[in-house]
Amino acid sequence: MADATAELLDAGERLDAGALRELQLTRLRSSLRHAYDNVPFYRESFDKAGVRPEDCRSLADLARFPFTVKTDLREQYPYGMFAVPRERVRRIHASSGTTGQPTVVGYTEGDLSLWADMVARSIRAAGGRPGDVVHVAYGYGLFTGGLGAHYGAERLGCTVVPASGGMTARQVRLIQDLRPRIIMVTPSYMLTLLDEFERQGVDPRGTSLRVGVFGAEPWTEEMRREIEERCAIDAVDIYGLSEVIGPGVAQECVETKDGLHIWEDHFYPEIVDPVTGEVLPEGEEGELVFTSLTKEAMPVIRYRTRDLTRLLPGTARVFRRMEKVTGRSDDMVILRGVNLFPTQIEEILLRTPGVAPHFQLRLTREGRLDALTVRAEARPDAGPGIREAAARSVAAAVKEGIGVSVGVEIVDPGTLERSVGKIRRIVDLRSR
Ligand code: DLL
Repeated sequence: MADATAELLDAGERLDAGALRELQLTRLRSSLRHAYDNVPFYRESFDKAGVRPEDCRSLADLARFPFTVKTDLREQYPYGMFAVPRERVRRIHASSGTTGQPTVVGYTEGDLSLWADMVARSIRAAGGRPGDVVHVAYGYGLFTGGLGAHYGAERLGCTVVPASGGMTARQVRLIQDLRPRIIMVTPSYMLTLLDEFERQGVDPRGTSLRVGVFGAEPWTEEMRREIEERCAIDAVDIYGLSEVIGPGVAQECVETKDGLHIWEDHFYPEIVDPVTGEVLPEGEEGELVFTSLTKEAMPVIRYRTRDLTRLLPGTARVFRRMEKVTGRSDDMVILRGVNLFPTQIEEILLRTPGVAPHFQLRLTREGRLDALTVRAEARPDAGPGIREAAARSVAAAVKEGIGVSVGVEIVDPGTLERSVGKIRRIVDLRSR
């Protein structure tokens, strides 16, 4: 098995560590030059910081260059971050952004090809092979999930079913009829699909699915176990963001399931202290920052993702790994001085008997204090006694593990809104 996999690796994955670092430095220098020469925003920001592309003589020198943040991209809306004439841009994607101005990203033909290669590499690392049928239930459109997965699966040589998100009953039918081996979907929508299988009286463990490539939102080891058990598949994590390229920036290998290998021959990672911006040593947790090494239309230099994780040495590949993303700094709730991420609640809920993996966090204000209510669904077979015990046990676990008191409501199965794409866990009712 190990040998068979090695044969399938592409040229980038076969590099040794020394050759990889050398390649990264060459590419980094040319990406800095490309950004500086062609994007006025980067020229100004480098000039202001007193650095020139040629000042980057080692990978560590990257730390001397200024960061790029989401608001920079918003201010350059729509085409200000492009490093090539608009006519060379073959495709646009955009991230909706909850607040006003969307951000637009662009791809040359070369970028689209690189992206397809990276997603193909990801699907292969997840256990996909040429000839597999791949059901893509990430949304198609301005979101990068659907089309990104689609072209990557085609590039690998798979048969693609472009289901997109929604029309859940029909998805179940398609999976039964077309017999995909791979599904690509958000983990929260996978749960919706599993519920629909069960509602139709079909045992999801009996389908053709063997691998799930899940991402676009944070999910926990407990969620992996839940999904793997309910449908007898390998569930692996795919990570990416539109600003860097889309899905396929990093991917978990199915043989190790130990975090995501970053495709760092094209996307160079750093971890920085979210407050001071200082680069942190390998292994420490902080904010993930990416510099694109080969992108043409929209190079990004030290782009702050707001995602929190740590870097670890490679295992199944030469590339470094990132730990599963525990949360985004934006999703962090600060409740009476205590920091809390939805993934911490997910872990607790999924360890509690009688509780289903569907939940919402409702933020309200009581007098001058913020309050949080965890609203979670009961499993269909959980009676009133089990539900009450579950509510008590979740509240106690949150108090003990996170250090804050929250309300817990265990509601009837099927009461909470179901995800068809990226789920929104936090419902903020404080401003009403
Ligand atoms: O979500 C790209 C994508 C599509 C990745 C399909 C994987 C699968 P955006 O809409 O720009 O792009 O959102 C990017 O989503 O900064 C993370 O906060 C979050 N995210 C993406 N993948 C993961 C993951 C796509 N595997 C933002 N785990 C990122 C945790 C993830 N969070």
